Amino acid sequence: MDLTAPVPLTETVDFGGMSIAFDSRLLRPRDWTAAQSRWAAELAVEVPTGRILELCCGAGQIGLLAAQLSGRSLVCVDASPVAAAYTRDNARAAGLEGAVEVREGLLTEVLEPDETFPLVVADPPWVPRADTGRFPEDPLLAIDGGADGLDLARACVATIGAHLAPGGLAVLQLGTTDQVARLHAALAGAGLRVAEVRGYEDRGVVVRLER
Ligand SMILES: C[S@@+](CC[C@H](N)C(=O)[O-])C[C@H]1O[C@@H](n2cnc3c(N)ncnc32)[C@H](O)[C@@H]1O
Repeated sequence: MDLTAPVPLTETVDFGGMSIAFDSRLLRPRDWTAAQSRWAAELAVEVPTGRILELCCGAGQIGLLAAQLSGRSLVCVDASPVAAAYTRDNARAAGLEGAVEVREGLLTEVLEPDETFPLVVADPPWVPRADTGRFPEDPLLAIDGGADGLDLARACVATIGAHLAPGGLAVLQLGTTDQVARLHAALAGAGLRVAEVRGYEDRGVVVRLER
């Protein structure tokens, strides 16, 4: 992070009834993604006890709303120090400070080998690198999914496969149903399968994963 750069203005938006602060170094919270939080909270009723894991949390809003709705504690992961700081602030503002642990670092590096979670929420960057120029407002770290848009999604799938507790479920956000199909090999390699796909017009899709 360039500590000499001017700090952008903090904005606050409503996300499913929660007040979420962020700035232009992060992806602007997208209203429709509250559906991923609500789905996770519904699934929380049917999975074993334990904390929710959120991979690629940004300002933390998707995982925080899922935690608030389900009453579960949350572990949030993001490579961006700015994201980690806002997630901590947003957790505090929501009264969830004691229920939220934020880990700053690569999603492939911040979990202990034997840690498992009954519910995982993942919202990786999923824009193909060649298309990222269409979103000049969005930070590259938040949207650049590599050549086919799926580099980070594959990393999330591998991490979910390694850390999903027995009887656990995951909800993974992607851009298109075509991307879901192209994750087939990664899912098979991680011992996961697609149980349901929900589309949100042309804004994105959320996939429910299980073993
Ligand atoms: C699509 S954004 C999602 C942010 C937030 N969940 C939202 O919906 O606004 C992806 C996030 O992944 C983070 N990220 C990118 N690569 C990562 C990695 N290797 N490990 C952990 N986080 C990563 C980015 O910093 C960014 O916050």
